[in-house]
Amino acid sequence: MSRAIRIHEIGGPEVLKLETTQVGEPGPGQARVRHTYVAVNFIDVYFRTGRYPLPLPNGLGSDAVGVVEAIGPGVTDVRVGDRVGYLLGPQGAYADVRVMPADVLIPLPAGISDSTASTLMMKGMTTQYLFRQVFPLHGGETILYHAAAGGVGLIACQWAKALGVTMIGTVSTDQKAEIARAHGCTHTIVTSRENIAERVREITGGKGVPGVYDSVGKDTLMASLDSLQPRGTLVSNGTSSGPVVIDTTLLAVKGSIWVTRPAMIHYATPRAHMLAMAKELFDLVLAGKIRSEPSQIFGLADAAEAHRALEARKTVGATVLLP
Ligand SMILES: NC(=O)c1ccc[n+]([C@@H]2O[C@H](COP(=O)([O-])OP(=O)(O)OC[C@H]3O[C@@H](n4cnc5c(N)ncnc54)[C@H](OP(=O)(O)O)[C@@H]3O)[C@@H](O)[C@H]2O)c1
Repeated sequence: MSRAIRIHEIGGPEVLKLETTQVGEPGPGQARVRHTYVAVNFIDVYFRTGRYPLPLPNGLGSDAVGVVEAIGPGVTDVRVGDRVGYLLGPQGAYADVRVMPADVLIPLPAGISDSTASTLMMKGMTTQYLFRQVFPLHGGETILYHAAAGGVGLIACQWAKALGVTMIGTVSTDQKAEIARAHGCTHTIVTSRENIAERVREITGGKGVPGVYDSVGKDTLMASLDSLQPRGTLVSNGTSSGPVVIDTTLLAVKGSIWVTRPAMIHYATPRAHMLAMAKELFDLVLAGKIRSEPSQIFGLADAAEAHRALEARKTVGATVLLP
């Protein structure tokens, strides 16, 4: 049996219900994983609210770490007893134990604890693909990064610093600004009292930046476009404030801007590539260049509280559930 958070309807945090479900033996190509930490991500809110469709009833969550306790026929990617994490696969990570496709499981190095890994799987792998694949950074650039004190944000601050990139990070409060800077963000813009594009022009001597990573969406779109150099790239990688609708004429007017809306699934497959991405991330952690622990810890039964905090912008860094 498993304790799992399930949803029967889309809606507010109150639709997250703790239930007891049957967990069977893993079939061909599957593994049963007992979770030690379950990660909460903003994408879970999109599924819960119906912005991303999900057949109902369903489990929720796509990111956890734990131990493989059984494998099905034909599984060669992992062994019983392996410590693993994952960020792909079907929804249903908000659970103490579950059966998963084995080929999305990523073995964890001995030098990385489960608690650290729980902050890395989705959030660190997202930073990997944003900074190393989508709009690749080589060092020396100045970039604008929104929600710099968030779960992905605090890893991005450290990764940018490790690459020798000057990061201008947006945050909503002075306290979050301090935290982002302590993680390596070079300049912070406090959105509650500063104009983003004006500050970016000030910091860059009027030039603007070649790349913006914008996970906030609706509220920051215009500021992002106004912060870019001609032929700059807007990476629209999330919609925490609401969906983005762009009139392509605007892209010409703002300087022949490139826009991409990347999704992990197209950058973290096939498996060999996903493992290479994870290795690059883990190597930075093992070298001490990225340090990460959960900032907010809730019980599995309190998943609704975790969602309320995340949506109210009351969190910094990573949020996890203890199964
Ligand atoms: N495309 C992908 O593959 C991918 C993968 C992972 C994550 N993401 C996206 O990356 C973003 C960060 O994810 P995360 O899980 O680490 O979340 P998070 O950054 O910890 O939380 C979201 C943050 O966004 C900021 N924000 C601005 N306007 C907001 C609003 N109206 N409502 C709520 N938050 C608002 C808040 O920071 P301030 O208070 O400082 O403004 C808030 O803390 C999300 O948009 C997520 O969807 C995309």
